[in-house]
Amino acid sequence: ADNVDERVVSVGRKDKIGHVVLDRPGQINAINNALRTSVGNALRELDGDPNIAVIIISGAGARGFCAGADIKDQHASDSLLDLRRNLLPGWIDAFDQISKPIIAAIHGYCLGGGLEIAMACDIRIAAPDAVFGLPETGLGLIPGGGGTQRLPRIVGLGRALDLLLTGDRLDAQEAHRIGLVSRVASSGETLRDEAYALAAKIAGRPAGASAYAKEAAKGGLDMSLADGLRLEKDLFVLLMSTEDRREAAAAFKAKRPPNFTGR
Ligand code: HXC
Repeated sequence: ADNVDERVVSVGRKDKIGHVVLDRPGQINAINNALRTSVGNALRELDGDPNIAVIIISGAGARGFCAGADIKDQHASDSLLDLRRNLLPGWIDAFDQISKPIIAAIHGYCLGGGLEIAMACDIRIAAPDAVFGLPETGLGLIPGGGGTQRLPRIVGLGRALDLLLTGDRLDAQEAHRIGLVSRVASSGETLRDEAYALAAKIAGRPAGASAYAKEAAKGGLDMSLADGLRLEKDLFVLLMSTEDRREAAAAFKAKRPPNFTGR
């Protein structure tokens, strides 16, 4: 199961959208080492591809986005040193190094490490059948893919501790109500199209502005307000010199649609 050659992730490219599919549908896309490695590689590859502006992550099969860590693939014999080496630096935390916007398109089960993947993405859109939860404490563990840190940042400490301590599951509406997802697709059948439409909307906008908006918003969470404001202003000034910024102003003046180049 640790064989990275086993195809556990598939990657698609269409227009300016890169699509990473968690592809172990027989196991509800549970995360094993091969999937971990392949997702990281796919994200870095798409981030470096000049033809790609936005990345979508979704899960293959009818049952869900991802049912978390592969519980059948836990090596009790791994030394604590090995375990810690595999956790640090966290492969999900590496999503933060991806400069392009990442959209999680979530259907069905989105549990444990699956929810941690989704929370490391920039935008979450859920199908109405999506089910969210962090069952780790019931397994005698805590989330190890950023769940204890990203959940409070997304939904606030009180709601995060409720979910962490009870392991309760949320449906899509409740996840939307508390801000865990920002959009709910009108149906499971249209989730993919709605995610692509969202990606296309972002891909049609100046790439530098998208990257810096993401960097400023996410980066600022680790900083004092004063440092975050400084980061924002620095990135703002950098964008002033871009062709896309000039093109946007010129197009507005000429009352024509802009033609962005990403420069
Ligand atoms: C390995 C998994 C899996 C998982 C499902 N499968 N989840 N295999 N790891 N996390 C496999 C099942 O064994 C089964 O394989 C197939 O996928 C379909 O699952 P079923 O259980 O038959 O489906 P269903 O009855 O619909 O139940 C769905 C489910 C249940 C409620 C999502 O599968 C479930 O509870 N899964 C575990 C969820 C979970 O606790 N994840 C870990 C989160 S914690 P076969 O071969 O039998 O068809 C985490 C971090 C720490 O991610 C984890 C450390 C252990």
